[in-house]
Amino acid sequence: MRPAVTVRVPAKVNVQLAVGAARPDGFHDLANVFLAVGLYDEVTAALADELRVTCSGPDAAQVPLDATNLAARAALALAERYGIDPAVHLHIAKDIPVAGGMAGGSADGAAALVACDALWGTGASRDELLAICAELGSDVPFSLVGGAALGTGRGEKLTPIEVGGTFHWVFAVADGGLSTPAVYGEFDRLTAETEVPGPTASPALLAALRSGDPAALAGALSNDLQPAALSLRPSLADTLAAGTDAGALAALVSGSGPTTAFLVPDEETAGKVAAALLTSGTCRNARVAVSPAPGVTATSCITASDTA
Ligand code: C5P
Repeated sequence: MRPAVTVRVPAKVNVQLAVGAARPDGFHDLANVFLAVGLYDEVTAALADELRVTCSGPDAAQVPLDATNLAARAALALAERYGIDPAVHLHIAKDIPVAGGMAGGSADGAAALVACDALWGTGASRDELLAICAELGSDVPFSLVGGAALGTGRGEKLTPIEVGGTFHWVFAVADGGLSTPAVYGEFDRLTAETEVPGPTASPALLAALRSGDPAALAGALSNDLQPAALSLRPSLADTLAAGTDAGALAALVSGSGPTTAFLVPDEETAGKVAAALLTSGTCRNARVAVSPAPGVTATSCITASDTA
C-alpha cells in the first residue's frame, strides 16, 4: 500500500449573498455569509508516478479530470511553492452536487491541498494554506475552514461567525449545472441601469445565526444572485414553490445555483419536504443535511513508516 491521506470536506450554502457592482478586475465585492452543510466529498491523495485525478460517485462523469480540476490545481500550487514533484494520485469520492452553487469544486481544491500537505509533510502554516486557497478561487478558503463565516472582498477574506444551534436543510439538485461567471454576468445585465449599493452583512441575519432560531433565519435569508439564476433558469421558481408549499420555512437559490436550498424547522419536516420535492418533478434529487459542519478534516492517514 502506498502512503495516502484521506480528508473529508463539506458543501456550503450562502445564507446571505450581497453582491456589489463589478470591479475593474471583473470580480464583484461581496458580503457573503457562508454556512458549511453536512454533504461531503472525500479526497484521497496517494503517492504515485505522476499527477492524476479520478472521481467516483453518481455524478462523477460531470467532473473534469484534467488540470482545470481545482484538486489538481491545488496539488500543483503547493508542489510549486515547496519545490516538490507533484506525483500524486488524487481520488475524489463525490457526493456534493456538481456545478450546483454548493462549492463542490472549491471543496475538492481545499481538500486536495490539505491532503497533499499532510502527504508531503510540507509543514505549511494554516495562513499559507489559506493564501493558496484564495489564489485557487473565491470560495476555496471557506471550504477549508467550514463552520460559518462572513466572506468579504471577492469572498476570500473570512471572519468567523458564531452559530447558536443546528439548522436543518433540504437541497433540491437540478438537472445540469449553471456557470458561475454566466450568473454574475446576468447579475450585471439585470443591474446595468441601477446604482448597486456596496454589500454589507445583515445584522438581522447574524443575530439569527447566533440565536440558532430557524424562524428568525428564515426571515433573514437573501441572495442577490437569485434573480440572475432565475432569469437563466426560470424553472427554478417551480422548485422553490414546491418546497415552500411542502412546509419549508424559506427557500432560496444556493449561491449561483441551480441547487435550491430549503430551510426547515426540524428533521421530520426535512424528510417531508425532500419527499415532496422528489415527487414534484421539479428537481433531479433532494438531499437532507444539517449545518454548521466542520471544515476539512482528515479521516485516514497511511504514512511511509506504515507501509515500510
Ligand atoms: O473565484 P472563482 O474562480 O470561484 O470565480 C469564478 C467566477 O465567478 C469569476 O471568474 C467571476 O466571473 C465570478 N465571480 C465574481 N465575483 C466574485 C466571485 C466570483 O464575479 N466575488
